[in-house]
Amino acid sequence: MSNTKILVTGGTGYIGSHTVVELQQAGYDVVIIDNLSNSNIGVLDGIQRISGIRPEFLQGDINDIRTLRDLFSTHGPIKGIINFAASKAVGESVQKPILYYRNNLVGLLNLLEVMPEYDVKGIVFSSSCTVYGEPDKNPIDESAPIKPATSPYGNTKQISEEIISDVIHAGSPIKSILLRYFNPVGAHPSAEIGELPIGVPQNLIPYLTQTAAGIRPLLTIFGNDYDTPDGTCIRDFIDVVDLARAHVIAMRRMLDRNDTAPLEIFNLGTGRGLSVMQLIQSFERATGVKVPYTIGPRRKGDIEKIWADPTKANEVLGWKADTDIDQTMRNAWKWQLKVTPAK
Ligand code: UD1
Repeated sequence: MSNTKILVTGGTGYIGSHTVVELQQAGYDVVIIDNLSNSNIGVLDGIQRISGIRPEFLQGDINDIRTLRDLFSTHGPIKGIINFAASKAVGESVQKPILYYRNNLVGLLNLLEVMPEYDVKGIVFSSSCTVYGEPDKNPIDESAPIKPATSPYGNTKQISEEIISDVIHAGSPIKSILLRYFNPVGAHPSAEIGELPIGVPQNLIPYLTQTAAGIRPLLTIFGNDYDTPDGTCIRDFIDVVDLARAHVIAMRRMLDRNDTAPLEIFNLGTGRGLSVMQLIQSFERATGVKVPYTIGPRRKGDIEKIWADPTKANEVLGWKADTDIDQTMRNAWKWQLKVTPAK
């Protein structure tokens, strides 16, 4: 009997590539569609070096519904989808809202339309803790109110959740699990895959590791006058491999069980808030490498503090993010050293 096949959109990206490896190691066959707008084909080699299996790959855009129908006809039967294909830079989304609404919504609509035609049972969707806005209290669980989005990027995540919910309520014969990620960081411990930002990194960890590697002179901490113990923002930093594992469990749950609700939502975080300063300290402790930094003004739109209550994912999925943060920082550093060009 052949293995169950899963379509991973955006599968050569950061979280996508780590999830492909976990799916393969769990015995699923994987087909990736990616337009390579923010990733590179060499990621397939890294995946293959870890798992021993090269995933099927199609360079294409899920915004084109004909491409999708071709894919389902020629690479099928596909039983489940994990949808990572989306743009994710908050600042860029403010400058280019049309690009963000198109990229993040049209592809999703296409997938939802095509799924029943090809008997695809379920879709795992990459959502974000950004849907909670600035929480009234922490840790935050899935019943917390959705706050008005502060960027087009955040808005696309809220709208995507609503689209999926509306489609299922309208009777589409599909299931979905919405995964609200907190702050994914780190890299595969093999250093075969990791985060590969194109251009100047917007997120903390790639900026930090590039600074530690001497590619950038100085990390700027965006504000140290927040209402937190050390004045810097607090986040729930979750190891990317822990995060990837949750997708496999969610997929198995959707496909193998017929006693679960058609739409479920889970927070994916550690339950531990760490400040930006504490994360820098963890990196320095774990690697022995100093990070030159300076304190700058606050970044517009930043949330002061947010961390997850992951109890539902822990209990219902039987999943826990348990990689030690220092280990995560060592993995991020090992990956950075691997991709840093020799001087
Ligand atoms: C943001 C989004 C999140 C999205 C993620 C992926 C919001 C509120 N959050 O997370 O939904 O999934 O990006 O792109 O929309 N920092 C510095 N210096 C730097 C970079 C960051 O001090 O050079 C600080 C930030 O001010 C923040 C923390 O580090 O306090 C984390 O920032 P970042 O890694 O960009 O992630 P978020 O903004 O939390």
